[in-house]
Amino acid sequence: MKKVLITGSKGQLGHDCARLLEVAYSLVLTDIDQVDLSVESDAHRFLSECDPAIIINCAAFTAVDACETEPDCWKANHDLPAHLASWAVERDRMLIHISTDYVFDGMKPLFMSSKEIDLPHPISEYGRSKLAGEQAIIDSGVHYAILRTAWLYGIKGTNFLKTMLRLTIQQPEKTLRVVDDQYGSPTWSRTLAEQIQVVMENEAKGLFHASSEQYTSWYEFAVAFMDEMQISHRIEPCSSVEYPTPTERPKNSILENEKLKEIDMNVFRDWKYDLGIFVKENREQLMQEVKS
Ligand SMILES: NC(=O)c1ccc[n+]([C@@H]2O[C@H](COP(=O)([O-])OP(=O)(O)OC[C@H]3O[C@@H](n4cnc5c(N)ncnc54)[C@H](OP(=O)(O)O)[C@@H]3O)[C@@H](O)[C@H]2O)c1
Repeated sequence: MKKVLITGSKGQLGHDCARLLEVAYSLVLTDIDQVDLSVESDAHRFLSECDPAIIINCAAFTAVDACETEPDCWKANHDLPAHLASWAVERDRMLIHISTDYVFDGMKPLFMSSKEIDLPHPISEYGRSKLAGEQAIIDSGVHYAILRTAWLYGIKGTNFLKTMLRLTIQQPEKTLRVVDDQYGSPTWSRTLAEQIQVVMENEAKGLFHASSEQYTSWYEFAVAFMDEMQISHRIEPCSSVEYPTPTERPKNSILENEKLKEIDMNVFRDWKYDLGIFVKENREQLMQEVKS
């Protein structure tokens, strides 16, 4: 059995990768509580001890607003992948890394999608740190696949959907205002894990956009989720000007999976279809989580 290392295994995506791949691979799982992979010597020592054939890097600093001031953001999003790459290139191992729509400024006219060929231009520290992580991997010469995803949700950890559900259940009388002028493609972490498996097993190399088909706004996404959950709600649309965040978000985060489609490896479906299956499989657990 091939040995595969999954970093960030306690996060949304790492958890789903582990569940999907545990049947066919010998997995090594790790997260920050075991080893801080942004420290080069610790990362290289750990990697040499477990000696994986393939590394799937799901570790990242994903708190976008905190990234503006928190040095751990650059450590996790740039230094960490750079250390994985420098170890892997020496031993000819494959590195699969996850990046983000935030490498773009989101200024493309609605509803044009961003392709792999488009020039990145991040507008936040999170986006800049993730782009620098991509570049470090590419520059290292390692056999890599970088998958840029967007609007990730899953059953593990916290995410937008769980926040909407918690607020709706705990304060049913309160109106929730959700931005209706930022667009993207909500992507289920389990489908992204399936895409990672396809890329890994075909040893595909390069930079790939990897998000669901079709797009929506945060407001429409929240309403679609509540409808799937069959929960009445008081969600209303608002503009980003009415709901300012410390860090500016890209307005148009729609990605086109052009490269995956070119090599006939795109597994993504319409975001609404995936949302339906996600809710069907996880409704009880989601309700339990928000009530506890
Ligand atoms: N979430 C989204 O909407 C979204 C959108 C586009 C792209 N992405 C990308 O998708 C990937 C997976 O995201 P996710 O939502 O699954 O992230 P997540 O749930 O935040 O999981 C990331 C995991 O990495 C761990 N980690 C952070 N720093 C580390 C370090 N120095 N050493 C070892 N582990 C470390 C985190 O631990 P702590 O929790 O203790 O920090 C966490 O368990 C990331 O590359 C992210 O940038 C996410």
